[in-house]
Amino acid sequence: MCGIVAYVGHQEAYPILIEGLKRLEYRGYDSAGVALLNENDTLNVYKSKGKVSDLEAFAASSDLGGHIGIAHTRWATHGEPNQVNAHPHLSQSGRIALIHNGIIENYLSLRKELENRGYTFQSSTDTEVLTNLIEDVQISENVDLSEAVRIALNHVIGAYAIVIVEKGHPDQLIAARKGSPMVIGIGKDEYFIASDATPIVGRTQKVVYLEDEQVVRIKLGEELHIKTYEQPAIVRDTMRGRLHPEGNTVRLGGILQYEKQLLYADNIVFVACGTSWHASLVGSYLIENLAKIPVKVEYASEFRYRNPVITPHDVVIAVSQSGETADTLAAIQLAKEKGAVVLGICNVIGSSISRATDAGIYTHAGPEIGVASTKAFTSQVTVMAMLALRLAELKGSMKDEERLEFIKELDRIPEKIQWTLDHSGHVKDIAELYKDVRNMLYLGRLQNYPVALEGALKLKEISYIHAEGYPAAEMKHGPIALIDKDMPVVFIATNHSTYEKVLSNIQEVKARNGKIIAVISENDVLARKMADHIIEIPETECLYSPLLATVPLQILAYHIAVMRGCNVDQPRNLAKSVTVE
Ligand code: AGP
Repeated sequence: MCGIVAYVGHQEAYPILIEGLKRLEYRGYDSAGVALLNENDTLNVYKSKGKVSDLEAFAASSDLGGHIGIAHTRWATHGEPNQVNAHPHLSQSGRIALIHNGIIENYLSLRKELENRGYTFQSSTDTEVLTNLIEDVQISENVDLSEAVRIALNHVIGAYAIVIVEKGHPDQLIAARKGSPMVIGIGKDEYFIASDATPIVGRTQKVVYLEDEQVVRIKLGEELHIKTYEQPAIVRDTMRGRLHPEGNTVRLGGILQYEKQLLYADNIVFVACGTSWHASLVGSYLIENLAKIPVKVEYASEFRYRNPVITPHDVVIAVSQSGETADTLAAIQLAKEKGAVVLGICNVIGSSISRATDAGIYTHAGPEIGVASTKAFTSQVTVMAMLALRLAELKGSMKDEERLEFIKELDRIPEKIQWTLDHSGHVKDIAELYKDVRNMLYLGRLQNYPVALEGALKLKEISYIHAEGYPAAEMKHGPIALIDKDMPVVFIATNHSTYEKVLSNIQEVKARNGKIIAVISENDVLARKMADHIIEIPETECLYSPLLATVPLQILAYHIAVMRGCNVDQPRNLAKSVTVE
């Protein structure tokens, strides 16, 4: 199995790295390599097939100077054991060198995407793909290396422990892990990194074990700077480089050449399934309200069979997290046959839907491992909000100042999601009270109706409790018959246009002894008094409330599922990608 050693400090790195590699020899390997950044900012990489002693012999008469370096023993997975495939791998520009333990499962699609962007590859490894992906993100997003690593890893499916050294940064290493262990040793003015503690124990007693999904910047003279990926960061990634409050504009590079078609479309038609369909419904409120373009939202599975009226004057947008949903792919095919432009809002780079559509916008939500979509919803709605604002800008359907307010507020959403998470600790207590119920009703209006649908879907999917989402006012047309003391009803009762109407629905449930869990705005006074339990979200534009209100409902479903002993990541009968009809 591969081994990792890295060092930054006041000592010569090479002897420390070689000794470290020798201590890791017990893991088994077939090649070894080292990268050293010397005082002239030259990144020297030496690699050799065979043993660490072969590497020493190979590098013996070379420049081995430098106080920072990374080293690796490789046990071949992708590509035969030879010098080219050995680590470290250099990025195309030669600016960063990377070592990696683990396997990047989606490396082929990432490689294809990078090749389309002009990258070429020396080796057959998944590691070289990851190295260039990080470089590409760093250049295109204009961010520092640790941020580029965090963003790039959002696109990676698989397991990894990586360490990177960068030219121009002789005092800094970046490391990250998921599924593969990594230990950081903290010495006096020096740091050691290794795939297990063996190379470190003789050098320092102070060690930190990096947690899964953490990226750390290790810089001399600074505390360890550790970042963890979270939903607020995902939404920030979705907006990065696209939302420009300073210029009061939005730039969606992927669909630039189709903006006119969108603007003059008879209809924008979303086709999607499940959570993506719910996000599309929110998207319809955003686009119709802000850009005043008519929007239809279709279940892809129905669309494909109901002979829909679609013309070349329509733009169909397929929305999918996985990019592999069979019904959505079939809907794309049908829309193409009818002559419509077909765009995609998709998460997985290189997926079938991203290839089948004319153009599209990636959500950059990172791999979603759990079957139940969570961050997919927020990132899709974020894309739709940006699309609505861009179309409003082109169409002139909003005053400049008003649009700027919306853009600025969207920019604040990540911190408001964080606020929501920080104030959701008590949701676990609510879950404890209701974990054994048999049914639950979710009610909301307008843009919060899809939130009700999504909250109910999450509960059904992972806790196996029967739940229904309804437009709140529809309750009295049927579901009200279900209300009694054993029926908890979740209201999304934020203080927006239909607030008073939702309060009346709350009263109707109370009058029948139903239990009320209300998602309310932070400064709410009335709903707070009526509900048995409240969950607060910060004030925001009403059209953005789904981005906040969905989060505590995901948490509620999660806690109930865990308390019922359900497998939240792999619920029974469900598949992450529904690739069959
Ligand atoms: C969501 O929690 C579900 N797993 C499911 O409804 C999902 O959203 C649906 O199957 C569509 O998947 P897609 O976004 O990958 O196309």
